[in-house]
Amino acid sequence: MSRSERKLDHIRHALGHERDVYNHFDDIDIVHQSLTELNFDQLHLSTNLGELQLSSPIFVNAMTGGGGQRTLEINKSLAKAAAESGIGMAVGSQMAAIRDPHERPSYEIVRKENPEGIVFANVGSEADYEQAQMAIDMIRADALQIHVNTLQELIMPEGDRDFRERLHNIESICRKAEVPVIVKEVGYGMSKETIKQLYDLGISYMDVGGRGGTNFSKVENMRREKPFASFDNWGIPTPISLLESRELVGQLNIHIIGSGGIRNGLDGAKAIALGANCFGMAGSLLRVLVEKGYEELVSEIQHIHKEIKMVMMLTNSQSVSELQKKPYVVHGESKTWLDQRADQ
Ligand code: FNR
Repeated sequence: MSRSERKLDHIRHALGHERDVYNHFDDIDIVHQSLTELNFDQLHLSTNLGELQLSSPIFVNAMTGGGGQRTLEINKSLAKAAAESGIGMAVGSQMAAIRDPHERPSYEIVRKENPEGIVFANVGSEADYEQAQMAIDMIRADALQIHVNTLQELIMPEGDRDFRERLHNIESICRKAEVPVIVKEVGYGMSKETIKQLYDLGISYMDVGGRGGTNFSKVENMRREKPFASFDNWGIPTPISLLESRELVGQLNIHIIGSGGIRNGLDGAKAIALGANCFGMAGSLLRVLVEKGYEELVSEIQHIHKEIKMVMMLTNSQSVSELQKKPYVVHGESKTWLDQRADQ
């Protein structure tokens, strides 16, 4: 299988695997308030992520790049939709393009289509500072994501097995890079121990990237002759990971991004109420683009914006930062987790 076929195979499996019926966002209720005093048409969705000013809390999370014409077209459409809707976008891992300049056009197109917008570069934690800087320069990125995906690597036959350089790489990139550095999970979630460990390394931007949406254990298992199916449900669901981060947000200067399994604007608003400054959506936006096309993707993003504004109306929140302070209730498995982790 060629490299570009492998990329498309990946996209097909990422969109095609079974989703759990139970999503932990359903465990969260934001408390309804009857007496709103706001005007829907005057609501703004701007938010800040540390030193970055965002006009919307949504961004397209890292997916693809490299690997031929089809991935270039996908990135072009995602970037155009991001520009038209005023949302940010992360590119997929640039490791291949760092090693082979022929792979660059499908990343560079993202900046070309969205010259003024917020764009995130993306590398794995095997990247050293020079490689990270190449990724940033390639697309004049406003921030860099470093993804950590240990279980995905372990399930991939050709995946990494030796992570001894990881913390050193993350620390040195964070110390030297001139743009914010975000450490990002890919669907396994971050615990409060991980968040504290990252903070101690100098990282203040974290995308908790929890379980509940695109599931890379399932994706990689589909590509294995003998799958590790017992790990299909490994990881921390996104709302639980946000709850884990919540007690640290008050104590440390950290900026939290919610992602993983966000299906709509209500889930996104719940991520914000749980403390996230913004939230990333990957699989669900890609599915709309691939199955229904560009116009439908733009319309879906507008719809999500409206859903967030509806929650702001229903909680009397003038701004995204006000929504972050509104009361919520936690049920079910998420509540059990919260209780058991309270003293740990
Ligand atoms: C991804 N994701 C991803 N993440 C990353 O940091 N670098 C990457 O190269 C990729 N590649 C990739 C390809 C495809 C096809 C998908 C669908 C996803 C992971 C993505 O950014 C996100 O963390 C997870 O998909 C979970 O979010 P959703 O999909 O549940 O919204």
